[in-house]
Amino acid sequence: MRTPIVAANWKMNKTQAEAREYCRRFRELVPEDFPVELVLFPPFTALGAVRDGLTGSVVKWGAQNVHPEPKGAFTGEISLPMLLEYEISYVIVGHSERRDIFGETDEFIARKIWAVLEAGVRPILCVGEKLEERREGRAREVVERQLSAALEGLSPEDADRVVIAYEPVWAIGTGVPARPEDAQEMAAFIRGWLRARLGDVADGIRIQYGGSVKPGNAGDFLRLPDIDGALVGGASLDPDSFFAIAREGVP
Ligand code: PGA
Repeated sequence: MRTPIVAANWKMNKTQAEAREYCRRFRELVPEDFPVELVLFPPFTALGAVRDGLTGSVVKWGAQNVHPEPKGAFTGEISLPMLLEYEISYVIVGHSERRDIFGETDEFIARKIWAVLEAGVRPILCVGEKLEERREGRAREVVERQLSAALEGLSPEDADRVVIAYEPVWAIGTGVPARPEDAQEMAAFIRGWLRARLGDVADGIRIQYGGSVKPGNAGDFLRLPDIDGALVGGASLDPDSFFAIAREGVP
């Protein structure tokens, strides 16, 4: 049985004060025995506020990005040793906004995955095709390229700690989610790819869907056989809306 994982990607939103208020409300909502793993991804500047706001609760937190080197002349970047001081559990790696707006390559993303795993933290690896790639029938080819660049060569023990988020780029922030049957088809393809390389470990790896998930459609994705959670952007900015999504993941 895979424990569902529902994560809030706040992107470049929320001050420390806003993050504190969010955590206060979220803790009111989440019962101690909630059966879905919940992770908040604030901007770096609010990690301390979120850590303080969530310590002692069942809710986890993580970083939206990281640089693979531990330190050095990389102006504006943040390293794993810096993030570990905030007691993070997860790092999002290879989000399409990092790939497309900031030009991150498959090779750079692979270095991040290795660095995150080596630090004892879990990566959420984002993969997904653009609209024209889907129209041209190349969606699987693109996702396969992203998977092999990031995960080829990982030991089964390391791979077991990775979460994969399938996020079709055209569904992110557009209000137009993928069709559930298309999301399931890609998630099954991803699991098949994992099984061919890792054997039975593939059955324990969680695969999230992301892209315009809302309280009203989350259940359509979270009940699919190969989808074990959601990565939520816009609809995670309000704690009640995010918790309504997470409740749809209760097995
Ligand atoms: P969205 O973003 O829920 O606003 O579409 C999802 C994501 O980018 O992870």
